[in-house]
Amino acid sequence: MSRKKIGVIGGGFVGSTAAQRIAEKELGDVVLVDILEGMPQGKALDIFEAGPVYGYDSMVTGTNDYAALEGAHCVVITAGMPRKPGMDRSDLLKVNGEIMRKVVSSIMEVAPEAFLIVVSNPLDVMCYVAHEVSGLPRNKVMGMAGVLDTARYRSFIGEALNVSVKDVQAMVLGGHGDSMVPLASTASVSGIPITQLLSKEKIDELVTRTRHGGAEIVNLLKTGSAYYAPSASAVTMVESIVRDQRRILPTCTRLDGEYGIENTWVGVPVILGANGVEKVIELELEESDRKALHASALAVKEGQEEVAGMLALS
Ligand code: LAC
Repeated sequence: MSRKKIGVIGGGFVGSTAAQRIAEKELGDVVLVDILEGMPQGKALDIFEAGPVYGYDSMVTGTNDYAALEGAHCVVITAGMPRKPGMDRSDLLKVNGEIMRKVVSSIMEVAPEAFLIVVSNPLDVMCYVAHEVSGLPRNKVMGMAGVLDTARYRSFIGEALNVSVKDVQAMVLGGHGDSMVPLASTASVSGIPITQLLSKEKIDELVTRTRHGGAEIVNLLKTGSAYYAPSASAVTMVESIVRDQRRILPTCTRLDGEYGIENTWVGVPVILGANGVEKVIELELEESDRKALHASALAVKEGQEEVAGMLALS
């Protein structure tokens, strides 16, 4: 059986780090696409040449031509302008909406069956654009944000308790923005609820830090946004699909009545397997979390309507 082709759009820090991680995990052959001439070719060649050192056989190629994505199984889309300090994710709506439209139309011409994993911000609204433009069924279009937000939350919980982050489980719901909903009620360490290990004040502090986790890094870097944890998160989703792992991962998907939310792209736990989003898992939420999820979904819905007007989508 030939190896699967996995596309990565955007050769910036998130895209190139994702390409590196896909190659290192041997999830398939990687095609890195960017509009800059020479840049994706150079980065791809560099990643390919690390193969003998690290011991992976993935082919890695870089290109400016979408034709190279022909028949791709999964495509990770990182193209777009990153957030700058002081900039809200929604400031990016129009410029990245236009980019997403072009990118997705180009992918669909050559890989109409591909799973699309959207990473560009504002994440939830970009998933909506990708879905509208592609015409793909909902199981094939998804957004990476919840895995990242949850990773940040788990890191902070592990650090606060001085225990291994491997034993920390948690779930962050909602849109990828200040309105995200890190759940305290379901977070645990080796099966022990964190509410038994940390004070309410400490949990609130970790929740707030998680909500602003992206901005914390933007403020430190000053000229860009996070990429190590975002790329690790996107590649974890690719792996769950390619290897049919059926992991339960917080994923941005379109809710069609689940959680009482209609036609809105938000992060909820889903099973990710060979068919992409195999199942949306509906949690019973505490009233305050349910309200927060609805408020977050409403903010995304407004963004969807705004971008639909800007781009004249249906
Ligand atoms: C973050 C940006 C990339 O959360 O959305 O780091």
